[in-house]
Amino acid sequence: MSSIAFANIGSLVTNDESLGADDSADKRIGERSHAGLVVEHGRVVWVGDSADLPAADSRVDVGGQAVIPGFVDSHAHLMFAGDRAAEFSARMEGKAYSAGGIKTTVAATRAASDDELAENLLSLIAEMHASGITTFETKSGYGLSVEDEVRLLRIASAHTSETTFLGAHVVPAEFAERGPTGVDEYVSLVTNQMLSGVAAHSKWIDVFCDRGAFDVDQAREILTAGIAAGLAPRIHANQLSNIGAIELAVELDCASADHCTHLSERDIELLASSNTVATLLPGAEFSTRSAYPDARQLIDAGATVALATDCNPGSSYTTSMPFCIAVAVREMHMSPAEALWSATAGGAAALRRTDVGHLGLGAAADFVILNAPSHQHLAYRPGVNLIGQTWRNGKLITPSGQIKQGHSHD
Ligand code: NIG
Ligand code: FE
Repeated sequence: MSSIAFANIGSLVTNDESLGADDSADKRIGERSHAGLVVEHGRVVWVGDSADLPAADSRVDVGGQAVIPGFVDSHAHLMFAGDRAAEFSARMEGKAYSAGGIKTTVAATRAASDDELAENLLSLIAEMHASGITTFETKSGYGLSVEDEVRLLRIASAHTSETTFLGAHVVPAEFAERGPTGVDEYVSLVTNQMLSGVAAHSKWIDVFCDRGAFDVDQAREILTAGIAAGLAPRIHANQLSNIGAIELAVELDCASADHCTHLSERDIELLASSNTVATLLPGAEFSTRSAYPDARQLIDAGATVALATDCNPGSSYTTSMPFCIAVAVREMHMSPAEALWSATAGGAAALRRTDVGHLGLGAAADFVILNAPSHQHLAYRPGVNLIGQTWRNGKLITPSGQIKQGHSHD
């Protein structure tokens, strides 16, 4: 494979402190101006001043625009059929969001063919690429039977290595209607037959630990079974209420605790002193008209914060990371640099990945050329499509930009 030199980058965000300019405002994002970048074999092999660019097989002139690491979306639910636009409209007219709406999507998903599910997934992936996402995670959780959970994860695993078994999303109607006995039977199904069936296709295990879903003891039992089967834990925590999910997340060393909408001071301290990333999902508060968590408090306490889309048909039907960044800056009190870091390096930390989320030497050559001179425009110009080109593993995957290229590479 040939090498490509990217010249004339107005502002390059690397998320590698050692590559940033000494006078940059937020050192963590490793930003430098008038930069150049060389990629080869799908990796970053050189970063420096554009004027010093070494020779390469081909050259792309970025024309003074900004280049940022590709977004790492560490939390999405892409395996579903149908939509719930009517439920969204009802909410905007005052109806409250509840976990119960998940059952509508479960019915539509069970009725869909493998081809329909794969097609829906592919169209969401195309949207993600167009929004600058180069790595994404997806959960199951709208099948809730052994057969359906297995097929969701089998289809997903053909498109991403970041697959998450969320059989414990809610208790499906056929079990819930039998009361506590049915609930116990469902937990047992999840931790036994369902887990064995999905294990080959799943990297992670997740539980929706909240009011109307699973309590802390059930979540512990399910996550522990997943860990024993070789899956790594993550958790939906404190979206609708605080039932103690953060303590469990830290106890089990979950890679991330996601949502974090309702946090106590103690939860913030626990997250700050752990390896568990606090993943914030602004699209969910936006679409359920809920109060936003305060990222400022988490960051100031020393917690690692990730931003993700939570793309799903119920509570956050967006694949746009720039939208999430804009909302996080405006409503969660993050600086534009912090939000960018959280949507890239933060997402990588939430997936415990070191190869993505930054453009340090040796990193995957996953990046976005913006139609803007600085990453700050992502929040400063909300709702405007600023994604010029998305490159993944050194290859252009979304060629919708206006960037002038030099002679093309083979
Ligand atoms: O992350 N919180 C649980 N699961 C999804 C919502 C699912 C749905 O409403 O369909 C979420 O927001
Ligand atoms: Fe979610």
